[in-house]
Amino acid sequence: MTNRNIDDQGSLSSSIWTDSIANNKQPNGKELIAHLKTVHREHAGFTEKCASTCRDKAGLNSYEWLAEIVPDIDGTRVLDLACGSGPLLKILYDRNKKLKLTGVDMSPEELEIAKTRISDDSADLFELKAQNLSTISDDSLDVVLCHWALTLMDPIAPVLSEVRRVLSVGGKFAALVDGPMNDAPGYSDVHDLIYSYVQDKLPSYGEFDLGDPRIRSTNSLKNLASEAFPDATIKVESKIVSMQGPIAEVTKTAAGFFYASFMLPPEIHNTMLSKLSNLLSITKQKEELGNQGRFIMPISRIVINN
Ligand SMILES: C[S@@+](CC[C@H](N)C(=O)[O-])C[C@H]1O[C@@H](n2cnc3c(N)ncnc32)[C@H](O)[C@@H]1O
Repeated sequence: MTNRNIDDQGSLSSSIWTDSIANNKQPNGKELIAHLKTVHREHAGFTEKCASTCRDKAGLNSYEWLAEIVPDIDGTRVLDLACGSGPLLKILYDRNKKLKLTGVDMSPEELEIAKTRISDDSADLFELKAQNLSTISDDSLDVVLCHWALTLMDPIAPVLSEVRRVLSVGGKFAALVDGPMNDAPGYSDVHDLIYSYVQDKLPSYGEFDLGDPRIRSTNSLKNLASEAFPDATIKVESKIVSMQGPIAEVTKTAAGFFYASFMLPPEIHNTMLSKLSNLLSITKQKEELGNQGRFIMPISRIVINN
């Protein structure tokens, strides 16, 4: 990327985590948590906008795909780990009001939104880190779900060991994570474009993942899971989901899914959006629909039968 003259347009959003990246140092777990908490304080609810809009061929979004794991049996005890603003809990509650739902997240701002859509008697919500689920008893859950958050957890080993502790024998743990990038046409171009704007200011951005990189590839994810659940059967499935609509809306929603986009000050953010809209535009093929855009995302679901 050249000729952006970004020095005139403000600095990247900064945190201890970004300071470590700027110094070419792998941020530690505390710095990661502080960074994620800041992003979620300032942009609470951002994940669900894109994730609930993108759908597979059958019309399911990724929350609905993950929710399939929960049997429709009254009294089933379900934990949504890192529930964020609560979209998955709401889907489960609307499907069966007799499920016993619990949600935990470390972001109070996300939990505040979750509380506005799920009443106290419909779900227990706790502000907790996934590495220490202290208020949840051993063997007390039938299903643990985690939608697009496992990738952000570092260290990951204590998270998996906590999930194992709280799950009953015969219970299931299922997580929705990023799928193989190349499965979704154009996805890596979107990723690279957004990252390139951040990298103009912070060249090491992207070298250190937000979370444990082993969650991001199918094989290493399976290996981690089988170390934590040695006797379990483990299955990973992948698919793509997409959204299509007015180009400005699709561009904004797609960009808002990437943590990297929140690093950019408004002026650079706007320039990035304008380049991104060129990438996502499909108007040439479908002019009768007006100025349309499409965004395609790869997703994977890991299901562990304990
Ligand atoms: C990308 S959002 C996903 C939120 C929600 N599951 C959804 O898909 O809409 C990631 C969420 O994980 C939470 N999170 C990240 N690391 C966490 C940790 N170690 N413990 C608890 N929550 C965590 C964040 O606060 C945030 O709400």
